[in-house]
Amino acid sequence: MDNNILVNEINRLKKEKNACILAHNYQVPEVQDIADIVGDSFTLSRAAAKMDNEVIVFCGVKFMAESAKILSPNKRVLLPSKYAGCPLAECIDKDELIMEKQKYPDAAVVCYINSSTEVKAISDICCTSSNAVKVIESINKNKILFVPDENLASFIAEKVTDKEIIPWEGGHCITHARITIGDVKKAKSDHPKAEMLVHPEVSKVIRDNADFVGSTSQIINYAKNSQNSEFIIGTEMGVLHKMKNDNPKKKFHLLSSKLVCQNMKMTTLKEVHSSLLNTEHEIFVPEEIRLKALNSLEKMLEIR
Ligand code: 13P
Repeated sequence: MDNNILVNEINRLKKEKNACILAHNYQVPEVQDIADIVGDSFTLSRAAAKMDNEVIVFCGVKFMAESAKILSPNKRVLLPSKYAGCPLAECIDKDELIMEKQKYPDAAVVCYINSSTEVKAISDICCTSSNAVKVIESINKNKILFVPDENLASFIAEKVTDKEIIPWEGGHCITHARITIGDVKKAKSDHPKAEMLVHPEVSKVIRDNADFVGSTSQIINYAKNSQNSEFIIGTEMGVLHKMKNDNPKKKFHLLSSKLVCQNMKMTTLKEVHSSLLNTEHEIFVPEEIRLKALNSLEKMLEIR
């Protein structure tokens, strides 16, 4: 089937099955274009909790679809590509977190949304890259065990100076970790007037060279609202689709050509179609663990 036929079929099936499509900003352009909502992890979690469709097709990676199921247990949540995982979310498991918690019994435990349901279930509160600082500020303890992204932990520690942030050593996103200081020097010398916008998952040395640090949607909004007309982008290439559509006269330069997340690129129109047609790759979360993980997600959603 060619793409036009696939798009028509997807739209027909969406109506027939009362489904909505949520897509992360890192999805391929044609998948973003058929989605009802495209956004960062926070936007998509909030949408998953609010949508009244019977089916949610989640075009992203497993932890995102699981978060949608935790928030909307009565909906069928489908992950079109069953192998789309997140190595960052998989870098700490429940047993490792239990052991870490024993080392810091007086610390509050905050998990990044890029974590498994089991890790969310034994954390006090969850956060995303867009609200991490607000979430940490809302906690009335001054010691915070933060898992699993150590770069986000160090970004938070710079912003919230009255709390001790204990990171999970070695936890990082393999895509953002590909950016080198050489990439930064080259991009800045090639585009001296450009503002550099990066995700907090980049390492400190890259972050220190940036003009703005934010979630994928915050980066997209910053570029739209800025008076500047040229930007160096330090996050996965998928964000360029919306940025270029929103700002046809502005120029965008990807910080490194290696900023491609293979997991996010697994979802194609073909998979979205097949998942809707055959109700494929449905996400299930056992109720006992769902209720515990829900607590940490709901606490996050309450924070304004
Ligand atoms: P955002 O919440 O900023 O979209 O980030 C999601 C993610 O997985 C980044 O690697």
